[in-house]
Amino acid sequence: MSLQTELETIKDNGLRQIEAATDQKELNQIKVQLLGKKGSITQTLRGIAKLPVEERPTAGSLANQIRDELTTALETKLSALETASLNQKLAAEKIDVTLPGDQIPFGHPHVIQKIIDEIEDIFIGMGYQVLSGPEVEEEHYNFEMMNLPKDHPARDMQDTFYITKEILMRTHTSPMQARALETHDFSQGPLKMISPGVVFRRDTDDPTHSHQFHQVEGIVIDKHITMADLKGTLTAMTHALFGDKFQVRLRPSYFPFTEPSVEADITCMNCGGKGCAVCKGSGWIEVLGAGMVHPNVLKMAGVNPHEYGGFAFGVGPDRFAMLKYGVNDIRDFYLNNLKFLTQFD
Ligand code: PHE
Repeated sequence: MSLQTELETIKDNGLRQIEAATDQKELNQIKVQLLGKKGSITQTLRGIAKLPVEERPTAGSLANQIRDELTTALETKLSALETASLNQKLAAEKIDVTLPGDQIPFGHPHVIQKIIDEIEDIFIGMGYQVLSGPEVEEEHYNFEMMNLPKDHPARDMQDTFYITKEILMRTHTSPMQARALETHDFSQGPLKMISPGVVFRRDTDDPTHSHQFHQVEGIVIDKHITMADLKGTLTAMTHALFGDKFQVRLRPSYFPFTEPSVEADITCMNCGGKGCAVCKGSGWIEVLGAGMVHPNVLKMAGVNPHEYGGFAFGVGPDRFAMLKYGVNDIRDFYLNNLKFLTQFD
């Protein structure tokens, strides 16, 4: 068989094999057989050396031409196989976008957090800053700086979880009054701050008591602040939270860190003030403690009480939530029962 015929045969067989290949692996083997170092074309090219000199160029160029043809055929087939396997994959992974998707349950803020967020928005709107403080607090801030020196009988008002003699779980958010007073730069303007957070008391849990609950502390200190400003501020908060029909009433009370001290009631939301079981017939519900900041508190924090004064208050968002949604057991807020919590979604 002449070299030419041999080459033509390799080409015809090669093209047939390439055409018949069904996957990339097979195609690769064919490529090696045809064009590899030990492949048939290479072998045949070696035979050229044995030809008479004048026949060599024709045979050489034929061999090159056939190699090119086979290479092109291999490439064409490879891309056809790739396209086919991609199409197959796409068909297998086809998604029916009209099928209903999986239901993923979304979280939502806790009902108490929602009330706190509302309170924050109201006070931010009135130019207050919002600060957060440590839940594990120094006795110094929780009591001393709030005008409750050691052995003060009023310390019994707040049964305390102590961690060490000096460190405790804060029993109220009022220590943030002292912390804010200490750091505020009065040359930049008045102090207007609220501070929401969790507080802890050694109470036995029952429908109206929890060893852990929330407070939002507020303090305003400037020159010429009066109790009328306190009442106006609490009224503005009440109107924004519950509506304009709700009124605020102040009653005398006692806290060591305010003088005078008050307890604030708002119109009963159950009966609108007529008197019912929720408000025990009075038409009012107690919602917070407040008063004019005691001069000792200012003095201890380095603020001159002859120059500056103002009010402070501590509201209970748990109580607001209970009143607003008619929840009659405070423990429900802390049991993480989703059936209960998702009602407020
Ligand atoms: N800290 C008081 C309490 O926990 C509430 C309060 C805050 C009263 C600010 C007066 C001023 O009961």
